[in-house]
Amino acid sequence: MTGGDRRERAGVTLGSAGAGDLDTLAALHRQCFAEAWARSDFARILEAPTSFALIARTATGAAGFVLARTVVDECEILTLAVTPAYRRHGFGRALLHAALALATSRGARAVFLEVAADNAAARGLYAASGFRMVGVREGYYRRGARRGDGLTLKRTLRRTRSLVKDHRR
Ligand SMILES: CC(C)(COP(=O)(O)OP(=O)(O)OC[C@H]1O[C@@H](n2cnc3c(N)ncnc32)[C@H](O)[C@@H]1OP(=O)(O)O)[C@@H](O)C(=O)NCCC(=O)NCCS
Repeated sequence: MTGGDRRERAGVTLGSAGAGDLDTLAALHRQCFAEAWARSDFARILEAPTSFALIARTATGAAGFVLARTVVDECEILTLAVTPAYRRHGFGRALLHAALALATSRGARAVFLEVAADNAAARGLYAASGFRMVGVREGYYRRGARRGDGLTLKRTLRRTRSLVKDHRR
């Protein structure tokens, strides 16, 4: 991330992630999910020019990230997370909205994502950000011995200008 990528918003700096950020992305994912993705998972996804990641940083380090993919006029949010210490400070909303603006600037007109039905925090964030449910995938998520439903959410996008510089274009 370079100085040119950065913007300040409520004490957090958002910047686009590159090859030098793979360890950071894997470390953030490990702190936020029971089934951690490896550095190589992020490398494989970000190899595709259609994918992008944004990282939220504070003075003390990385606080969260979003990973998304835009193909033609559709964007998919692949994952989004904020470390426990920084939750409920608006970082998740800032990351999501920055990703939506970037996807829109790449031509996306709709965005889709999957969220576990029992993930109250993420569902609250998406509902507050204009997403609505368009499908249910029964048993999509593993919860130890049992399985939980996945909800497919959608939001339409309006043309807007991204404030995060898109280094992958
Ligand atoms: C979901 C997650 C990214 C939210 O990040 P966050 O930085 O805490 O969210 P924000 O502070 O930006 O919250 C924005 C809005 O989301 C909703 N929200 C956030 N956390 C919530 C919670 N625990 N319960 C209900 N609503 C919640 C609220 O509407 C909130 O607005 P408000 O604070 O004005 O009420 C975070 O909880 C997280 O990383 N969870 C673990 C990983 C995960 O589940 N990712 C989503 C995968 S689909």
